[in-house]
Amino acid sequence: MKCNGHVYIATSIDGFIARPNGDIDWLMRQSTKGEDHGYDDFMASVDGLVLGRKSYEKVLSFGAWAYKKPVVVLSRTLSSADIPVHLQDKVTISNATPHEMMHTLSKQGWKNAYIDGGQLIQSFLRSGLIQDIILTHVPILLGKGIPLFGDIEHDVDLQHVSTESYPSGLVSTKYKVMKI
Ligand SMILES: NC(=O)c1ccc[n+]([C@@H]2O[C@H](COP(=O)([O-])OP(=O)(O)OC[C@H]3O[C@@H](n4cnc5c(N)ncnc54)[C@H](OP(=O)(O)O)[C@@H]3O)[C@@H](O)[C@H]2O)c1
Repeated sequence: MKCNGHVYIATSIDGFIARPNGDIDWLMRQSTKGEDHGYDDFMASVDGLVLGRKSYEKVLSFGAWAYKKPVVVLSRTLSSADIPVHLQDKVTISNATPHEMMHTLSKQGWKNAYIDGGQLIQSFLRSGLIQDIILTHVPILLGKGIPLFGDIEHDVDLQHVSTESYPSGLVSTKYKVMKI
């Protein structure tokens, strides 16, 4: 059984996942108390996460580890020796390509992987390895920052699945990625 990639991510209305320096303060300060944006259900549906190195380093900077499920960090610059001792049973580092990564995860029994990080998502999308995207729009314009999407050689058709809006102003839309 092949492992499918899934995206669950938030952007500003102008399409940024972080400020140019990687800050996500604008995301963290959203007042969304009591709202269920489907994160727990989404996390329950995946076997683990594949994180871009920069997203991993951002999560590390928060101190407390955010994930209960296994995390693979894709990096060509980090090695296993860089994983902090307290995370050695939770995190692995790999320099695999997206196709190699999904092949390896499939062999390990993963069916669904949460793909996270802007550059990483773009790379998995280009490789045709993303099945669906849950995109939450946060009601703010940042003007500049790290974009979620970038150059692609061909159009990627998306099929709208559902949209939920929340009292906080967050709007969450699920798209199925049609074949590239
Ligand atoms: N708004 C949100 O919901 C949300 C979600 C996630 C992340 N973020 C933010 O996004 C920022 C990081 O995103 P980002 O786009 O800058 O980087 P990223 O996708 O997290 O990481 C990119 C890095 O991943 C490694 N990598 C390995 N294989 C790759 C491949 N095939 N394609 C692309 N990258 C590969 C490379 O690291 P090496 O240089 O080590 O090889 C590359 O520099 C952080 O500030 C984080 O806080 C926001």
